[in-house]
Amino acid sequence: MPKKVTKAIFPVAGLGTRFLPATKSVPKEIMTLVDRPLVQYAIDEARAAGIKEFIFVTSRGKSALEDYFDHNPILEQELRKKGKDDLLDTLKATNMDSGAIAYIRQHRALGLGHAVWCARRLIGNEPFAVILPDDVIAAEKPCLQQMVEAYAETGGNMVAAMEVPPEKASAYGVLDVSEDMGSIVSVKGMVEKPKADEAPSNLAVIGRYILSPSVLTHLNKIKSGAGGEIQLTDAIAADIGTENNVFGYRFRGQRFDCGSKAGFLQATVAFALARDDLRDDLARYLSEISHVGKAAE
Ligand code: G1P
Repeated sequence: MPKKVTKAIFPVAGLGTRFLPATKSVPKEIMTLVDRPLVQYAIDEARAAGIKEFIFVTSRGKSALEDYFDHNPILEQELRKKGKDDLLDTLKATNMDSGAIAYIRQHRALGLGHAVWCARRLIGNEPFAVILPDDVIAAEKPCLQQMVEAYAETGGNMVAAMEVPPEKASAYGVLDVSEDMGSIVSVKGMVEKPKADEAPSNLAVIGRYILSPSVLTHLNKIKSGAGGEIQLTDAIAADIGTENNVFGYRFRGQRFDCGSKAGFLQATVAFALARDDLRDDLARYLSEISHVGKAAE
């Protein structure tokens, strides 16, 4: 049975330029789907999967993230005084235990692989998870929890995977499948952002990983790959055929690409429709405007 996964890396150093001007002063990960920051969804998913240590790889301008996870005694006192217990509970659920969260700075934007490598000393010689908060996954059982359960059977390395339209494959890491076992596939190759006609399949890597520490060893040596960046995909691929083989996991759930405006808006609507306090009004509004849209056609 493989070792338990208790540590997760959250790479959050990106500039978020696609969301300028908002991201001029607000880290992208603090932007909200309804009323919860993107990063809160990632933390909740990690917790559900049994993660106990949370490692954020940050950069300049991300200090709002540290404040977000800190206790806010003044606000808590105010809510307590006013008897707003529900809000107090909501607030307290965002606090992290002392020592459970660590921040490491990535000083230069050298790619996702490099960001993960920056956390190597905090990982040591244990398997670890990586969660990209841009990829938000709505699922009955949280995606990383599904993966932890599958990983207990396979060990090695596991990446979340999803079929994408073939013309979109070049935006992702793409798997070359050796054996398809349904939800789990074994992998004989991985290519980061392949050219349109060179993708080995349309099974794309989504931002959830359970990795063996050997990937960190590969990252020590790996040269820059696609886009001139040090790619996590290349370091994982270096483990193929070793005792830490690589598996793709087709998760059950809906993934939103919150790194894009369209994906972010879709996620906002989907999460709002899932809320009892918002569903009816929003559904009515959406049906009204879609009628207006149809009339205009
Ligand atoms: C990253 C990874 C890529 C993966 C994608 C999933 O790319 O490098 O392999 O498919 O996340 O969202 P990025 O979207 O950061 O360019």
